[in-house]
Amino acid sequence: MGIATADRPAAAPATRAGLPPGPDWSVARTTWNWWRRPLPMLDHCHARYGDMFTIRLPYEGTWVFVSDPEVVKEVFTGDPNVLRAGAANIILLPVLGEHSVLLLDEPEHMSQRKLMLPPFHGKRMQAYREVMARAASEEIDRWPTETPIRMRPRMQAVTLEVILRAVFGVDEGARLAQLRDQLRGTLNLLSDPRWAVPTVLLGPQRLRRLRWFRKRLEPVDRLVFEEISARRGAADLTERDDILSLLLQATDEDGRPMSDRELRDELMTLLVAGHETTATAISWALELLSRHPAELERLEAEVDRGGEGAYLDAVIKETLRLRPVIALVLRKLAEPTEIGGRLLPAGVSVAPSIYLVHRRPDVYPEPERFRPERFLDQPPGTYTWIPFGGGVRRCLGGAFAEFEMQVVLRELVARRRLRPTGGEPEYPLRRTITNVPSGGAEMIAASRTT
Ligand code: HEM
Repeated sequence: MGIATADRPAAAPATRAGLPPGPDWSVARTTWNWWRRPLPMLDHCHARYGDMFTIRLPYEGTWVFVSDPEVVKEVFTGDPNVLRAGAANIILLPVLGEHSVLLLDEPEHMSQRKLMLPPFHGKRMQAYREVMARAASEEIDRWPTETPIRMRPRMQAVTLEVILRAVFGVDEGARLAQLRDQLRGTLNLLSDPRWAVPTVLLGPQRLRRLRWFRKRLEPVDRLVFEEISARRGAADLTERDDILSLLLQATDEDGRPMSDRELRDELMTLLVAGHETTATAISWALELLSRHPAELERLEAEVDRGGEGAYLDAVIKETLRLRPVIALVLRKLAEPTEIGGRLLPAGVSVAPSIYLVHRRPDVYPEPERFRPERFLDQPPGTYTWIPFGGGVRRCLGGAFAEFEMQVVLRELVARRRLRPTGGEPEYPLRRTITNVPSGGAEMIAASRTT
């Protein structure tokens, strides 16, 4: 508790200097916990130290985790010149490039973000319904009816197809196949844990200058630049509604359009930020539904009725709450800053923990239970439902991802009845930055029409 002074009322706790407490583990133990058991580690620290604790991560630095919604609000509404998200994402630099909106900080971040926001506005999403439904339905047509299917790779195929068509605007033919292959290769490179080692040892700046690394990216870059240049000259550019075509026509306050290099970096960013995340979120929804027959039946009834989708929306909100794809976001402090009543030193990263916020029993009674109904009575709170982060860094593709989840789940539930293959419910397993279903979301998707 703070100490009352003449000019500070007793009710307002005094600012404490220094870092909040945290575990005093060896480097080996912290590394093991962080890579292999991040969520149990967060639970452990929260139970022991409360809503604010410090973990020193080898190579990553000092992270202060926060999970009180009031403190999360402080972080998300704080000065983005001081609370820097771009600096915290620097590990992605070699693949995304220096113009990536994920890696920029103010003022460049805001000007790039402003260029990118209009194509992702919620109202525009209807334009992608058909592309999304087609990608899902072509995929579902290929599935067996009584053999177990691992949904996560299947959903990765769907979300890649959606990005190729809705974001890159590539539709049919050889170019689509080539681009699909090359982009898949880039995604595999990023999700390969071996990639983290040279990045950490050399640092992202040096890694991207290495010849072998540049050679690795050359073929995909060539295709992406070719696509940009072909689209720039397309006769129907102004009538197209794919995101690349919209970005090509966007200009900043000075009337300046994006350069090819900027467009390339943003396309790679949208691919990396939007592909695996959305596939994982849909897989979790399917895993949870397959193990909750009453909730599945209610959803099937709504879909069959052609209902407006209130329950479907609640299923999606509850999935992203209970199984957040990303467990935390980061803001690196550029100067000493008061957060949660503590003066934190420059250089540390503050980490609002999506996972811990979503499990607060004071906000979500019975937080471990899958209860979509809770979102029928209570709309998600800005600082208590944060699967997409928040503030000026909130996920640009949030509306896109939720819309895609709706369209794919609708297609799937209308045609297939999901049931688990047995065993225990799957648990979240770390895969680079996402938390995926431990068994790949394996289930039977029996036919509903025969
Ligand atoms: C369920 C799927 C998704 C989840 C859970 C998710 C989650 C997130 C999170 C947690 C952040 C960081 C926010 C912060 O620091 O406060 C983020 C940023 C971002 N996401 Fe997503 N995302 C998803 C899908 C997408 C999609 C589909 C796209 C685009 C096609 C996308 C594009 C981006 C971009 C560009 C940023 C950087 C925004 C900025 O720094 O200004 N994401 N996302």
